Amino acid sequence: GYVRVLHGFSALEEELADRLGVRRVVITRGDVDTDPASLRELGRAAAGVLGGYLGDNMTVAVSGGSTMAWVAEAASAAARDVTIVPARGGLGEKVEYQANTIAAVMAGKLGGRYRLLHLPDGVGGEALDVLLAHDANLRSVDELIRRADVVLHGIGLAEAMAARRVIAPALINELRARGAAGEALGQYATIGGEIVYTTDSIGLRLDDLGGVGRVIAVAGGRRKAAAIVAVTAAGSRDVLVTDEAAARAIQDII
Ligand code: F6P
Repeated sequence: GYVRVLHGFSALEEELADRLGVRRVVITRGDVDTDPASLRELGRAAAGVLGGYLGDNMTVAVSGGSTMAWVAEAASAAARDVTIVPARGGLGEKVEYQANTIAAVMAGKLGGRYRLLHLPDGVGGEALDVLLAHDANLRSVDELIRRADVVLHGIGLAEAMAARRVIAPALINELRARGAAGEALGQYATIGGEIVYTTDSIGLRLDDLGGVGRVIAVAGGRRKAAAIVAVTAAGSRDVLVTDEAAARAIQDII
C-alpha cells in the first residue's frame, strides 16, 4: 500500500491543485531531469495513487513513455482480476515506451490480464473505420478503453514528443507556430489548454476523458512545467503526480 510520506509539500500540493484545477496533486522529492532516483520515487508514488483507486475487476488504461514505464515497474497487486489496456494505439515509439509494453508489464505486476492494440500511430479516418469494421478484437479493446475505471498517462514537452515520434519537420514548425507547449494522449495543447493538434489513432484522447473514471497524470522535472500546465488546462482532471522541481517551476508560471 501507499504510505503518505510527509515531505512538507502539503501546502504546495493544495495550492497547485487549486491553481491547476485538478482534484489532487502529489509531490515527490527531487528533480527527475537530474536524478534517476527521483524518477523511481515518482513512479512509486503514482503506483501508490493507482493502488488507492483500484478495485476488483477494474480496467486500467495506461499511456506510453519512460515515466509510465517506472509506474508499471512499481505497481503491486491491490485488487483482483484487473485488466490493463493501452490508452491509445501507437506503435511509433521505442518498444520499451509503447503503451502496449507498459500495459503488459503492469498487468504482470498486478497479477491481472492485458489486452493490446496492434495499430501504428497515425492511422485514422477511413482506414481506421475499415479496420474497426473488420476487426472485432480491435473494437472490443477500443470499447474497454473508453470505459476504463482509471486512466494513467504521461505528459511530454510538445517538441520532444514531436521529435520522438519522427513526425514531419513541417508539422514540428506548425506546432511551434501554434504555441504547443505540452502533449498527452496524442494531443498537443497550448499553455492555456487549447488543443492545437491531434495525432490520428484509436483509443482515448485528452479531450475525450469524459466517459472514464479517475484520470491520473504523472510527469516530473523542471523542464516539463509548462507542459504540465498545458495538459491539465486541456483536460486531465483528477490527480497530478509530479516532483518538487516541476512543482516549484509550475508555481512560477501560474
Ligand atoms: O508517447 C506516450 C506518452 O505518454 C506521451 O503522450 C507523453 O507526452 C510522453 O509519453 C511522456 O514521455 P516521458 O515520460 O518519457 O517523458
